[in-house]
Amino acid sequence: MSEVNQEKGQAEDANSFLSPYLSKNPPPVIEDPYAVPIEDINVIDGRLFQRDIHWAHFKRLREEDPVHFNELPGIGRYWSLTKFEDIMFVDTHHELFSSAHGISLGPQIDGPRQPEALQFSNFIAMDPPKHDLQRATVTGVVAPRNLAKLESTIRERTQKVLRGLPVGETFNWVDRVSIELTTQMLATLFDFPFEERRKLTRWSDVATAPPGTGIVDTAEQRREELMECLAYFTKLWNERINKEPGTDLISMLAHGKDTKNMQPFEFLGNLILLIVGGNDTTRNSMSAGVLALNQNPAEYEKLRANPGLISNMVPEIIRWQTPLPYMRRTANQDIEIRGKQIKVGDQLLMWYVSGNRDEEAIDRPNEFLIDRPNARHHLSFGFSIHRCMGNRLAEMQLRVLWEEILPLFRKVEVVGEPQRLRSSFVRGITDLPVRVYPH
Ligand code: HEM
Repeated sequence: MSEVNQEKGQAEDANSFLSPYLSKNPPPVIEDPYAVPIEDINVIDGRLFQRDIHWAHFKRLREEDPVHFNELPGIGRYWSLTKFEDIMFVDTHHELFSSAHGISLGPQIDGPRQPEALQFSNFIAMDPPKHDLQRATVTGVVAPRNLAKLESTIRERTQKVLRGLPVGETFNWVDRVSIELTTQMLATLFDFPFEERRKLTRWSDVATAPPGTGIVDTAEQRREELMECLAYFTKLWNERINKEPGTDLISMLAHGKDTKNMQPFEFLGNLILLIVGGNDTTRNSMSAGVLALNQNPAEYEKLRANPGLISNMVPEIIRWQTPLPYMRRTANQDIEIRGKQIKVGDQLLMWYVSGNRDEEAIDRPNEFLIDRPNARHHLSFGFSIHRCMGNRLAEMQLRVLWEEILPLFRKVEVVGEPQRLRSSFVRGITDLPVRVYPH
C-alpha cells in the first residue's frame, strides 16, 4: 500500500503526483463544492482530508456525477467512482481492471504496461497468476490458527500499554496507544528486534507520505531511508534463509517457493506492503474509535452499558474511518460505466470512503451506530482477490483494545481538536489529545 510500486525512474514522479496541490502556489482549496462547476471538483486533493471537509464533495459527486472525470499534467486521465455498486463492479473484475500499474494515482501510462517491466512491485500491485502465488505464500501468518496464538500476546501488550498511560494528564493517544500497539504487533509478525521497532513506524510513514508533507523533505531522503529499510531486512532474510523455516513473515518470504527468488525491489515492495498494511490502517482505526465515541456520546453510553457490542462496533469503526480512502485500478480495455467512456489505460479510483457513505447501499450511512445490523457490509477492506489479507488481524487488535479499555477506564475523553494527515490515500489522524479517567 505504498506509492513505491512504480516503474524504475518514475518513483519521484509518483510521489509528486499531488504536485499541483503541493507546489508553492497551490490552487485554493474548494471549501464549498456546490459553489463551483462540477468539473472543478478534484477529490484527490489531500487538503480536503486534512481538514475533514471532503464529505460534501463526495456527496455531490454521488448525486450528480458518480463516475467523475479529472485530468492532471503528468498524471493523465482518471475517474473517481463514488457509488458502492460501481466500486464493487470494478473491484470484482480484475480481468478488466488491472492492479499491476499501481494502486495509487500515478504517472500517465501509454496503454497497459507489462507487469514484468515493473521494477518496484508487490503483490497488491500485481494481477493473477503472480499475485495469487505470492499472496498464498504469506497468507498463513494471519490464518485463524496463527491469530488465535497471537491473541494472548496482543492482550498482554495492550494491557501493559494502557496501564502505563498518564492518568490526570493530557497526552496524544495516537503516539502513546495507536502507534505503539500497531508497531509492537508488526515487530511480532516480522520477528523484528523489539527495541528497534519504531524503525517500522518510520519506514511506514516514509513510504506513504510524499516528500514535502512533513515526513521527508526530498525524494532523495525518502529513497535513502527506504534503502536502509531494504538493507536491514536483507540482513534478517540472510540470517533466516539458512535456518529452519519459522512462522514470521521474513522467514515465510525467504523460504516460500514463489517468493524466495524475489528481486531486491520486489522484496522491498512486499515488505513495505506488509509494514504499511499492518501499521497505518490499524493505527488510524485505533484513534478513530476514540474520536467516534466522543463525537457520539450516546454510543459511548451504549457501549459502557453493553461491552458485548465491541465485536460489532469494530467493523463499524473501520467503515466509519475508512483508513484507505481509495484504491486505484487501470482499465485493460475501453469500457462504459454509467454512460461514461473509460479508455484503455485510464486510471480508476474506487473511493471506498464515499461508497461507505452511499445511502443506496448502507442504511443511515452518516451515523456511527455500534449496534448497526450487518456492520461488516462496508468497503474498507476492498473486495475480491485483493481483499485485505490482514482484515481479521486488524479486527482482533481493535477488539482486544476495547475489551481492555472498558474495565480500566470510565472514559477516554478527547480534549482538543484532532490533527489529520494531508493525504487522500491514507486517512490518518496524527494527533488526538485525550485524558483518561479510571473507574
Ligand atoms: C489489502 C485495507 C489492515 C495487509 C488491503 C486492501 C485494503 C486494505 C482496502 C485492498 C487493496 C486493493 O483492493 O487493491 C486495510 C484496512 C486495515 C488493514 C482498512 C485495518 C483496519 C491490514 C493488516 C495487514 C494488512 C493488519 C497485515 C497483515 C494487507 C495486504 C494486502 C491488503 C498484504 C494486499 C492483499 C492483496 O493484494 O491480495 N488492505 N488493511 N492489512 N492488506 Fe490491508
